[in-house]
Amino acid sequence: MRALRSTHAAYRSRWQRHWDRMAPAYDHRMGVLERALFADTREWIGSRASGRVLEVGVGTGLNLAHYPPDAAVTGIDISPAMLAIARKRAADLGRDVELRTGSAEALDFDIAGLNTGRFDTVVCTFSLCAVPDHRRAVAEMARVLRPGGWLLLADHVVATNPAVRAAQCVVEWFSVPLHGEHFRRRPYELVVAAGLEVRERDRFALGALERLAARKPRPEAGAR
Ligand SMILES: C[S@@+](CC[C@H](N)C(=O)[O-])C[C@H]1O[C@@H](n2cnc3c(N)ncnc32)[C@H](O)[C@@H]1O
Repeated sequence: MRALRSTHAAYRSRWQRHWDRMAPAYDHRMGVLERALFADTREWIGSRASGRVLEVGVGTGLNLAHYPPDAAVTGIDISPAMLAIARKRAADLGRDVELRTGSAEALDFDIAGLNTGRFDTVVCTFSLCAVPDHRRAVAEMARVLRPGGWLLLADHVVATNPAVRAAQCVVEWFSVPLHGEHFRRRPYELVVAAGLEVRERDRFALGALERLAARKPRPEAGAR
């Protein structure tokens, strides 16, 4: 068990170092991709978020400008260097955002005993492709949502177009071992398996990009 934990810790610290190294150039690189492929995805996400918002894998905080002014935003990320840029962005925007290191696979907000069902909205954009255990991450996001709350995801996923799917397969031979970057994941299926109801789902860029909004059901009246 101890050996397993230390393997996990070593794995995590490898990707933490990776994202720390990526941080200074991240906004520039992401800007190029966004203009080419992501359309209005950050606005789409921000316009659906409300209340107590948790952003998982918040990175440099590129979504912060798009949340409603009265949203109470918390962001977690494994990379202190990415978070440092997000802190500066929040200050420049005049937003009071709680930003802290944390792992998507083990969300920990045990404040006043309220660790489960704590958030009105959970957001994860372009990070599930990079989280080592994305199944566990989606289950964690569902757990910390309150009943009736919304999970908002956007990411590159396995394409609907066969030629793009073949290209994704080839790219993954390099991107997974070198950058921890997966191109053929299917978050939609994990969201459904976690018991959430997908209410909106868009696929674009030849089906390689997906954004979705899913609601955590309320327990039925009288259910135990
Ligand atoms: C491609 S960036 C996306 C950042 C941001 N969400 C955006 O939309 O620009 C991926 C982010 O996921 C973070 N990340 C990777 N694995 C993680 C994990 N297990 N837990 C939390 N954050 C993680 C990285 O540090 C990085 O900031």
